[in-house]
Amino acid sequence: MRLSVIGCGYVGLVTGACLAEAGHDVMCTDIDAARIAQLNAGGVPIYEEHLEEVLASARKAGRISYTTDTGEAIRFGDAIFICVGTPPREDGSADLSAIDHVAQQIAGEARSSKLVVEKSTVPARTGIELRRALSAYSRGGNISFSVVSNPEFLREGTAVFDFFHPDRIVIGVDDESAAQKMREIYGPILEHKFRCPVHKGPCPAEPKTEFLVTTINSAELIKHASNSFLALKISYANVVADLCEKLDGNVEQVTHAMGLDPRIGGQFLKAGLGFGGFCFPKDIQAFIQLASTVGVDFEILKAAERVNKERIDRFLGKVNKALWVVKGKRIAVLGLAFKANTDDIRFAPAIDVIKRLLEEGAQVHASDPEAVEKTKKVLPTVTFHADPYETVRDAHAALVCTEWAAFKNLDWERAGKLMARKLVVDGRNLYSPKKMADLGFEYYSFGRS
Ligand code: UGA
Repeated sequence: MRLSVIGCGYVGLVTGACLAEAGHDVMCTDIDAARIAQLNAGGVPIYEEHLEEVLASARKAGRISYTTDTGEAIRFGDAIFICVGTPPREDGSADLSAIDHVAQQIAGEARSSKLVVEKSTVPARTGIELRRALSAYSRGGNISFSVVSNPEFLREGTAVFDFFHPDRIVIGVDDESAAQKMREIYGPILEHKFRCPVHKGPCPAEPKTEFLVTTINSAELIKHASNSFLALKISYANVVADLCEKLDGNVEQVTHAMGLDPRIGGQFLKAGLGFGGFCFPKDIQAFIQLASTVGVDFEILKAAERVNKERIDRFLGKVNKALWVVKGKRIAVLGLAFKANTDDIRFAPAIDVIKRLLEEGAQVHASDPEAVEKTKKVLPTVTFHADPYETVRDAHAALVCTEWAAFKNLDWERAGKLMARKLVVDGRNLYSPKKMADLGFEYYSFGRS
């Protein structure tokens, strides 16, 4: 099928590339001309495992193209995937102006009927508004638009894997033929008819992907309810960690045992610096905001959000207590991205931690396998290093903010010899307190005495 993708951010890039790799002809567009030029030149604007390979293969097969001409892209596809940003407004609600703008463009540029697929994360009822907008902007013309909500559940860092091996594909529609077309689009994935870029041999047997057809409002709610629940789970684990610190428990023992109960599940119970990124912090706020507009007080989510914000204070509290005076100290920060395997620093806890350290007069040296270039632009006074051992050299403390394998496997015996003081404050519980103590470190982490 011919597909268009509007918006070449992380979701648009992965969606376009994977659908092309699955056998569709895809044309992508973005208002950022530099990004389109980079893509046309064979570049990949973000770091995402396997994406470069998928893009190269789709390009070689002639299945993917890029243009700055939105009209051309709109006319190309039978289905148009809207993947534009929905950033938070001042009050936490989602800014939907980019979606509205795209609706105007689709209505103005389309010359044939289109399936309009809402892929951006949006509050419930956006699809209904989008349908109304498309009809209003096309001024009663005879081109019909069918709106579909198709939320994405891609995790940054494993997005290509998630796209080809989803546990569910959710399709919110109000007419059966739109659901049928979406089934065709996702057919190669549901029937496993694609060359998997992740697994070199056959893909491991996995639970069958559920293809769920719901109403548009339900599909939109599924996305926000899922992300918010995961965020809630993390905050719950973090409060349990705080309790473990007070009562001499070990949060890892507690959450491991909890997670063995299949009703709870072991994922997203890792205590530490809390959640960041461009999804959880903004989605939880948008969900709270949406609930309040219809008179529902989502108190439980407000608490989860508050707990998460306080993680930075608790982390810096540990740093301050250990260092006594922060001003003038050389501090090494290991990890800048909001999580491992991405170069994304949006709402990354590490960035807040560094800003606060700089305010207190510390000299910050930092390192990250992928996120240094992006961080240089927002924190120009930090000294960056490619090598983590150079980062900790002469440092009075090393702070671990992201769970990269390179940091998990660091040789602390070697690192300790380079440091001015053997002090590690670990925001991701990467190391064994006993091993660190045996190596002569003062070591602090979350929820483990
Ligand atoms: C999240 C969801 O997991 C995806 O399903 C969803 O599609 C995506 O948002 C989105 O809405 O686009 P992502 O933001 O890439 O994906 O990151 P996660 O892997 O979910 O991690 C979010 C944050 O929670 C990270 O900062 C991570 O370090 C933190 N986290 C995660 C914890 O602090 N503890 C945990 O146990 C798990």
